[in-house]
Amino acid sequence: MEIKKITCIGAGYVGGPTMSVIAQKNPDIQVTVVDLNAQRIADWNQDDLSQLPVYEPGLDAVVAEARGRNLFFSTEVEKAIQEADMIFISVNTPTKTYGKGKGQAADLKFIELCARQIADVSTSSKIIVEKSTIPVRTAATIKNILDHTGKGVQFQVLSNPEFLAEGTAIRDLHHPDRILIGGENPEAIQALKKIYEAWVPSERIITTNLWSSELSKLVANAFLAQRVSSINSISELCEATGANVDEVANAIGQDSRIGSKFLKASVGFGGSCFQKDLLNLVYIARSYNLHAVADYWDQVIKINDHQKTRFAEKIIQTMYNTVNGKKIAFLGWAFKKDTNDTRESAAIYVADHLLEEQAEISVYDPKVLDVQIYKDLDYLATRTLEENKSLLQVETNPYDAAAGAHGLAILTEWDEFKDLDWAKIKTQMKKPAFIFDGRKLLDGKKLTEMGFVYYAIGE
Ligand code: NAD
Ligand code: UDX
Repeated sequence: MEIKKITCIGAGYVGGPTMSVIAQKNPDIQVTVVDLNAQRIADWNQDDLSQLPVYEPGLDAVVAEARGRNLFFSTEVEKAIQEADMIFISVNTPTKTYGKGKGQAADLKFIELCARQIADVSTSSKIIVEKSTIPVRTAATIKNILDHTGKGVQFQVLSNPEFLAEGTAIRDLHHPDRILIGGENPEAIQALKKIYEAWVPSERIITTNLWSSELSKLVANAFLAQRVSSINSISELCEATGANVDEVANAIGQDSRIGSKFLKASVGFGGSCFQKDLLNLVYIARSYNLHAVADYWDQVIKINDHQKTRFAEKIIQTMYNTVNGKKIAFLGWAFKKDTNDTRESAAIYVADHLLEEQAEISVYDPKVLDVQIYKDLDYLATRTLEENKSLLQVETNPYDAAAGAHGLAILTEWDEFKDLDWAKIKTQMKKPAFIFDGRKLLDGKKLTEMGFVYYAIGE
């Protein structure tokens, strides 16, 4: 099975960067990324590489190298499906917002639509690769739809979950810890393996059966999220006892059995994956009547919700139990640094909590636009868009955000916040000038010496 043309359905945070790297490393393969969203495709095609729809350090250089050579972004979904030897499905699989499994199960309607469209238009045999994160046994559904076309076209379905993290996507894609391929057909597996072998050492490419591969993706995210919730639960205990959560994380992380990564206490994990995939894991476990398993993983989400609420409550309590009419500056809105993605960002929930207490909020984030911030709040449907707009202002620099503020909260760990002119910020703020560091980013000792009242998670 020689692969000359690849199509990827879905030009989002995964499809865009992943296919850019596959095209960069396989100049002889034509890679076409398609999407229903015409604006997104136009944004991927624009000349100004600083305005690509996904902000990722290093992505612009990869796109510059491959785009127009063997990397194409297009809205012609059917044509790209027809021509492809291999099709990656990289569409969104959000938590269901309706019907059975609402608020827990993954919504597979976009996956099914892709499978049906592939079945409808294909006239030649193809390898279908699940790149999206999906519940275990989804490949069976896809295969079922594809096998009933009646056109005699052969399809092989592989699972190839993506492990990149946003903000470090290009580094993760260039140097993956492992590539996981699940499947039944050795030739199809070999064809996909060969694409990765263009830059990934063979020993890093793991092959498993389909179901192990599908499930491993959910489990990997669950374990990572569990570590964040574990350390966040300890951050509260540290605050109550005088221990310091960074010191505890460092002390336990030195044990090679525990390891040092993913032990940074924070205002709570966000992002499009952790909560969605945990909820899905819980749902799957319950659907097999494994309630003890479901309850165990559900607790990871509960601690995360608790951490976000706790941070908001700490702000209110510290500011004399009321934030009514007080201005609170938010530095950061993205769910982590080095991305413009705000999905499930802790900032959204902390803001919503404070707005309920009639606070006024000003936000500065280096990469997130005001429209996105209002959209995020609007999605919660706690109040009208007009009310949100009257209570929350978006600023284009951190000093304007801090001007006249009673308190300032760090919600995202952008590096640039460390180097701000904190003396200037202090003169602009109301006194006492409170700082709530939800990322343990700043030098608390220095800020306290400067006269700020400084609170950080877990201290
Ligand atoms: P995204 O929302 O950024 O992108 C998905 C894109 O698919 C959208 O642009 C949408 O318009 C398009 N789409 C949906 N249905 C379509 C159809 N029928 N035809 C053509 N285009 C269609 O999502 P994402 O963050 O890229 O995530 C995609 C998948 O990858 C999800 O399953 C997610 O869980 C998984 N994943 C995400 C990350 C991450 O860091 N974002 C990491 C690993 C895995
Ligand atoms: C995650 C997984 O890491 C990645 O492998 C998978 O493919 C997609 O989901 P992502 O959500 O992009 O990636 O970012 P990640 O670095 O995992 O951070 C998730 C959230 O946890 C962020 O809000 C981050 O700030 C938070 N976090 C992470 C912590 O609070 N503390 C930590 O120690 C690590």
